[in-house]
Amino acid sequence: MLEQSRRVAVFSGAGLSAESGVATFRDPGPDALWSRFDPTELASPEGFAADPERVVAWYNWRRGRLAAVQPNPAHRALAAQTRLIQITQNVDSLLEQAGASADRVYHLHGSIMRDRCHNAACDHVETVDLRNPPPLRPCPRCGAYLRPAVVWFGEALPQDVWRQAESLCRQLDCLLVVGTSATVYPAAGLIEIARAAGSRVVVVDPNPGVAGGQADLALAGAAGDVLPALLEGLDLDSGS
Ligand code: OAD
Repeated sequence: MLEQSRRVAVFSGAGLSAESGVATFRDPGPDALWSRFDPTELASPEGFAADPERVVAWYNWRRGRLAAVQPNPAHRALAAQTRLIQITQNVDSLLEQAGASADRVYHLHGSIMRDRCHNAACDHVETVDLRNPPPLRPCPRCGAYLRPAVVWFGEALPQDVWRQAESLCRQLDCLLVVGTSATVYPAAGLIEIARAAGSRVVVVDPNPGVAGGQADLALAGAAGDVLPALLEGLDLDSGS
C-alpha cells in the first residue's frame, strides 16, 4: 500500500514516544498520565487560572523526564523518510532529535520545549531548558503569566498548523497512523478527513482501537518494532 502511494503522511500520538520511556495518556495500567492526574486541573485554562504554580510544576516534572529520554527506533525510521510530513499530537521534540527537519513536523498540540505568554494578545515565546525549567513567572513584555506552549483542553489548535495538516490530509493516498487512541478532536478527525478524501489508512499500534476501526490495514505491534521493518527500503513522499 505504501509503495503504491504517491502522497503519504504520518499522524502520530503518544504511542510513538512510549518506547523512549515517555508515558502515554490513556493506555491501560497505572503509568498513563490521565489515570494518575486530572486533565482539568493540569491541562486546561481553568486549571491554570485556579493554580498556575501547580500546572507549571507538573509540566516542569514532565520536562525533566523528557530531558532524560532519547528517540527510539520508530522516531528514527520516520525521520529517515526525509520527504515525509509528520503530523503529530506529541509535544516532545523526539522526531526532530531523531533528525526530522523541524519544518516537516507539524505539532498540532504545540510544544513543551517552549513557554509562551498566556495573554492571547501577546506573542512572547521563550525556549525552555528541559534540564532546568524555570518556575512560574510573568511575561517580560506584558506581565501576564508565561505557560507551556502546548494546547490545553478547551483551547483551539494553532490555526496555521491545523490548516496545513487538514489540507494535506485531503490530498493523500495513504495516511500512516502511529500510536494514537484517536479520541481527541479535532486532531483525531484528520483520519476521517483523509478517508473521506479517498486516502487509505494504515495503523501501527499494539492496541489499534478506534484508529484500527478506521483502518484499511492495522498492524498490531509496537511502533519501534513495526516501523523500521515497514519503512526499510521505502522512500515516501508527502508531495509538498
Ligand atoms: P493516548 O495515550 O490517548 O493513546 C496512546 C496510543 O498509543 C494507544 O492507542 C496505545 O495503544 C498506543 N501505544 C502504546 N504503546 C505503543 C507503542 N509502543 N507503539 C505504538 N503505539 C503504542 O495518546 P494520544 O492519542 O496521543 O493532548 O492522545 C491524544 C492527546 O490526548 C494528546 O496529544 C494529549 C492528550 O490529552 C493534549 O495534551 C492536548
